[in-house]
Amino acid sequence: MKRIKIFDTTLRDGEQSPGCSMNLSEKIEMARQLEKLGVDVIEAGFAIASPMDHKSVKAIAAAVSEPVVASLARCTKGDIDAAWDAVKEAKKPRIHVFLATSDIHMEYKLQMTREQVLQSISEMVAYAASLCGDIEFSAEDASRSDPAFLARCYENAIAAGATTLNVPDTVGYSTPQEMYDLICYLKEHVKGIDGVDISVHCHNDLGMAVANSLECIRAGATQVECTVNGIGERAGNASLEEVAMALRTRRDFYQAETGINTRQIYRSSKLLSNITGVPIPPSKAIVGANAFAHESGIHQHGVLANAQTYEIMNSADVGVPQNTMVLGKHSGKHALRDKLLSMGYELTDEEMEKVFARFKTLADKKKNITGSDIEALVLHRRNAFLASCELMSHVVNTGHGVPNTSYIQMRRGDTILEDVAIGSGPLDASFKAINHMLGLENIRLGSYSLNAVTDGEDAIGEAVVKLETPDGESYTGTGLSTDIIESSIRAYVNGINKMMEAANH
Ligand code: KIV
Ligand code: ZN
Repeated sequence: MKRIKIFDTTLRDGEQSPGCSMNLSEKIEMARQLEKLGVDVIEAGFAIASPMDHKSVKAIAAAVSEPVVASLARCTKGDIDAAWDAVKEAKKPRIHVFLATSDIHMEYKLQMTREQVLQSISEMVAYAASLCGDIEFSAEDASRSDPAFLARCYENAIAAGATTLNVPDTVGYSTPQEMYDLICYLKEHVKGIDGVDISVHCHNDLGMAVANSLECIRAGATQVECTVNGIGERAGNASLEEVAMALRTRRDFYQAETGINTRQIYRSSKLLSNITGVPIPPSKAIVGANAFAHESGIHQHGVLANAQTYEIMNSADVGVPQNTMVLGKHSGKHALRDKLLSMGYELTDEEMEKVFARFKTLADKKKNITGSDIEALVLHRRNAFLASCELMSHVVNTGHGVPNTSYIQMRRGDTILEDVAIGSGPLDASFKAINHMLGLENIRLGSYSLNAVTDGEDAIGEAVVKLETPDGESYTGTGLSTDIIESSIRAYVNGINKMMEAANH
């Protein structure tokens, strides 16, 4: 079995995608989950991009110990110094240097000749290697570069001290066969390539990122760059969960394995979706709500007779909560803790108290509390910890042909605030009341969605709002309740809290 390294770039390439930005504490929480997931490398950010990016790479470097922590850098001293400064306290630091090598990028973006690019790679990779023992070099747009020139670029990188060569399909243009051939070509033509890791970084513009990555593994790549839920620039990057489960399910074919603890996959996917507010499409492979659902009678009959008739994976292996053992209002803290442990959640006593309080409130409204409900409560505990404004009560009057009014009462520190507003609907009225009482009338509701966490009439509704400030920043808020108006108001308040927290930094 070949051991394939998983390089996770959720916090760099993923975070670059629209709607996926995260604040510092969210990035740290996600990085800790990636460590539990068992990724080999966390690309924590692009340190030079902003002081906040630098700060978060540094914080992630301090927060995890098992994975390598990488920061991206262009081929300049300033970028490399910033990257090194941000990762140097990590137990296993890496500097990831990149430069474009395709003719179109060199001519129009870099305005550099081939010779200048070769020289820059030699100089800057050597400079990075003088600071750090673990250097990755990426030839941006490698798949559209002249293969012979690309091979020279990689040779220079190896000679200057690179320990990993990354081959990106930056614009998601290549086909699986072309990626396979490119890796074979490089293995044959790059001197010294046997002594370094070969990495691939495929974008999903034509929906082939995972297939391309898998073909590269067959051709000899030893590292795959990917993101949770496949988030990333434009159509995203190769999805981590799809690559990991394809290798596991078809180990007979790929003869390769990863260090991923697959039972942490579902949790990682949910956490990311909960943090960013970007929902997981129901038909998404591995982690979508329908990924293990059998709707047709023929399929259901087959699965009941023998699960393998229609199931190639076991949902428990991916960590999907099994809704078999349910809890209710008579369940105590021990039962809840046991259930959480069986689902892989280890909470501190303080966290446990908060989750238990929310569990009891939910149990008053919902008879059977399933694994999915409990998971939602745990994911939402972050909201409780962040809260600086807390919803105390609300009264909403709505109907057809009558004005929609909402009265909201909130606590902010020791102060009780209240307001009432009229709106085009119950949520509009509630959001207006909140904006008015906090003096935030220029906040815009960018998007809103509501999903049921489980089935049934007493299902928990999870609301996700995106708030936009006049200076173009956006903040995602999530809220949970069996009452959809309450979950929406909670989501709005959560978004406002995040916005205020960011303003205080
Ligand atoms: O897509 C790409 O080429 C990249 C590089 C910086 C690795 O993200
Ligand atoms: Zn990329």
